[in-house]
Amino acid sequence: MIYLDNAATSFPKPEEVYRALDLFARHDLANPGRAGHKMALAAERALDEGRHQLNQLFHGEAPERFVFTLNCTDALNMAFKGVLKDGDHVITTDLEHNSVSRPLRAMELAGRIQLTRVHADRGGTVDPDDICEAVTPKTRLVALTHASNVLGTVQPVPEVGRIARERNLLFLVDAAQTAGVLPIDIQDMCIDLLAIPGHKSLLGPTGTGALYVGSRASVGAWREGGTGGDSASETQPREFPYFLEGGTPNVLGVAGLTAGVRWVQEKGMEQIHNYETALIERLRLRLDELGGLEVFGHSDPSRRVATLSFRCEALPAAELGGILDQAFDIAVRPGLHCAPYVHRSLGTFPEGTVRVSAGFFNTTQDIDQLAQSLQEITS
Ligand code: ALA
Repeated sequence: MIYLDNAATSFPKPEEVYRALDLFARHDLANPGRAGHKMALAAERALDEGRHQLNQLFHGEAPERFVFTLNCTDALNMAFKGVLKDGDHVITTDLEHNSVSRPLRAMELAGRIQLTRVHADRGGTVDPDDICEAVTPKTRLVALTHASNVLGTVQPVPEVGRIARERNLLFLVDAAQTAGVLPIDIQDMCIDLLAIPGHKSLLGPTGTGALYVGSRASVGAWREGGTGGDSASETQPREFPYFLEGGTPNVLGVAGLTAGVRWVQEKGMEQIHNYETALIERLRLRLDELGGLEVFGHSDPSRRVATLSFRCEALPAAELGGILDQAFDIAVRPGLHCAPYVHRSLGTFPEGTVRVSAGFFNTTQDIDQLAQSLQEITS
């Protein structure tokens, strides 16, 4: 199969990740911090190592501020439900994934918060001035995706970060589509909360992710339970990361994630990003030649990640995706991509688009094969 659904989860993973998972599962898969024996200590070291790698990559304030989560959605829920108080106003955008939109909308419907959803322009970029204009005396949080999971367009995170910091607001960035391909400097970008998936461009297994909680953000308890240390305490220890990490963590997944992060650092994010976006640019040019297809998002490869959405005048997106899978063995994601608001503003709701997302292990042949298949289908 030609796999072009890397925005959903990356596949394949580097050999180093498979090896790290196998080795860890066979030799060190004990419960971290729950005992003093050698295996428990090795498992604890794997978590520490993972946090150090993340802190180095994203320039956080300290490794322990990275809390391991199930995925990016888990991290976002932990952040929203942990920081927001009744009466708060939140600014977000119509580019957001349901993992941002749904928890915020549910809090709005429950009368707990007020929500402003700023619109992106037709090319898929939010204007920082619109964020500025949306600020009210009650605003507590700005929540912005780093790149649209539908269009791949990169958002002005440094500018919005500065706006939020100048106004003493919290700034949350959803890095679902950028962690591992675009530089993210938590401190320079004034990020207080960063939600990270482990299984996308960081190349770890599913079931991994992290929430970075900066010192300006005060987060409530999430999942209370055992933490290994301080068993005598009647309530959750306040110390990070344990405050938010009750229960046995996915230490095997973290061992794989750490190998993925190391691989990304060795390869270099710039090289990964350039390679992947060149593949998507090649596709964009081929789609333009084909005709009968509408391609969305702006065309400047330096302002996008390797994700592209299009629709076909002749065939609904779901049908086209199904034909690519069944007849040509090509995996893409058709539909709304869990991001209904951006499809509404593009005019592609409710059928959605076909999304193609390249990874570092795709080749130009994969792209040419897809273009050739689309030509056959549309003619
Ligand atoms: N959030 C993932 C996607 O966009 C699953 O496909």
